[in-house]
Amino acid sequence: MKEKKIRPLWGSKIGFLLAAIGSAVGLGNIWRFSYMAFEHGGGAFLVPYLCALFFAGVPLIILEYTLGHSEKGSSPLAFARVSSKWEWAGWWMPTVALFGIMLYYAVVIGWCINYFIFSFNLSWGADPQSFFFQDFLQLCDSPFDFGGIRLPILSTTFLVWFLCWFICYREINHGIEKACSIFMPLLFLLTLVLVCWTVNLDGAGDGIKNFYLKADWEKINIIKHFNNPDVWAVWVAAFGQIFFTLSLGFGIMITYASYLPRKTNIVNSALWMSVINCTYSFIAGFAVFGIVGFMAKAKGVAFAEVIKGGPQLAFVVYPEAIRQLPFGQSLFGAMFFLVLIVAGLSSGISLIEAFTCSILDKFSWSRKRVVSVICFTGFCGSMVFTTRSGLLILDIADHFITNYGLIMGGIFECFLVGWLLKARVARRHVNRARVDGMRLNIIWDICVRFLTPLLLVILIIQALVGELSSAYSGYSLGSLLLYGLGWLLLTLAVAVVFSFYPWVPEKLKKKHHVGEDHLLT
Ligand code: PHE
Repeated sequence: MKEKKIRPLWGSKIGFLLAAIGSAVGLGNIWRFSYMAFEHGGGAFLVPYLCALFFAGVPLIILEYTLGHSEKGSSPLAFARVSSKWEWAGWWMPTVALFGIMLYYAVVIGWCINYFIFSFNLSWGADPQSFFFQDFLQLCDSPFDFGGIRLPILSTTFLVWFLCWFICYREINHGIEKACSIFMPLLFLLTLVLVCWTVNLDGAGDGIKNFYLKADWEKINIIKHFNNPDVWAVWVAAFGQIFFTLSLGFGIMITYASYLPRKTNIVNSALWMSVINCTYSFIAGFAVFGIVGFMAKAKGVAFAEVIKGGPQLAFVVYPEAIRQLPFGQSLFGAMFFLVLIVAGLSSGISLIEAFTCSILDKFSWSRKRVVSVICFTGFCGSMVFTTRSGLLILDIADHFITNYGLIMGGIFECFLVGWLLKARVARRHVNRARVDGMRLNIIWDICVRFLTPLLLVILIIQALVGELSSAYSGYSLGSLLLYGLGWLLLTLAVAVVFSFYPWVPEKLKKKHHVGEDHLLT
């Protein structure tokens, strides 16, 4: 029974890149980025966004890749190898990813499957808003009501977990790599068709020109408006968006990089991944602003009145716009929801993989068994979001996890690599591993040790100040404490329990680089 386990590797460089992009490109690229740009100065938002990308996003992707690659392990193993005192933090990140995010992410992908089916006969009718909230979700007034499980949502949520199980239970190169090499080209193609279709609609050009590309420089001019908190809020939002969109702070990229061969170009991969992800967001923005512009013109209302962010964009605004289309309504609807399903699934499998790999590293059980247990438990946990209070609980959990969980993960990583492992040691590793391509220089050390953690601390303080000044979205204190803080603390407790379990000693010491074709000389 006791066979020696060899760490699997990605089949190809491009396979790894597609999987990493698959994790990054998700629902957030489609419904989060566009709304942020609209709210925060249109085209001018790209300036703080790109600054956030280069001063926090790219240094942190390189950091996650480096940690996973040099320690050859998921985040708990990598953390434990650098400093056993911090192993709990390494567990917390994938635990939050799975139990914090994936439980509701799966339900949202489930909604997309429901809406994909609805597209064929435009079931949402003339009033998509009341269809979504009253007929589909049958939303309760309070997050404590529950009011029973919605069977149509439960069945599609089951399908999502089943699909994820089907992909993740195979070894990385046969499962996730293969899935992403089908999903990503499909996603790019469908998005391109949607964008081309949308920009040709009547009124689309106005929406794009006047609200997306037109820049309101005053909104971001931090030098001129140094004392204006609204301008600061734009910068904070840009950093938050970069974190979310690049899937940072969950240990996903650490896990994915642990399957890379020893000789690899970490800096190039990090740059490619971030450029492709952010370009995707930018292009998807044309579809969002275009369709909203078209709808505003068709209904004769102001643009600002119809645009919305988050789930409302996909499940209320888009269905309404689809109804107004002159032809091909069902095809357009089906394509749009398929884009969301594919983008969501490829992010979802990365959330599951981060936790799966952590368990496999520590306990050496079989992947099939671990993935089956995780997906079954995950499905049971998702049930709470399929109740009639689902959307409210989801909203609270998401707010706390993206504002605190994610950023804390980033701070832990900077501390671990920048200070405990020492940034220059990590940098030497990156430069030695590269075959050709870019070298990493001292600017990265400065980012990882000082600049990025400082920016992250500012983000957390800003979020806390907002929290204390008013209850998030007017929810009761009890619900915020239970579903927000309580949820985060529960994941922390689970992480601590896992970290107490002892390691097989040689696992902690040896860094296996087996089964590789090129070795360092
Ligand atoms: N990056 C994904 C998106 O933009 C969301 C995500 C966040 C996925 C964190 C995994 C982990 O939608």
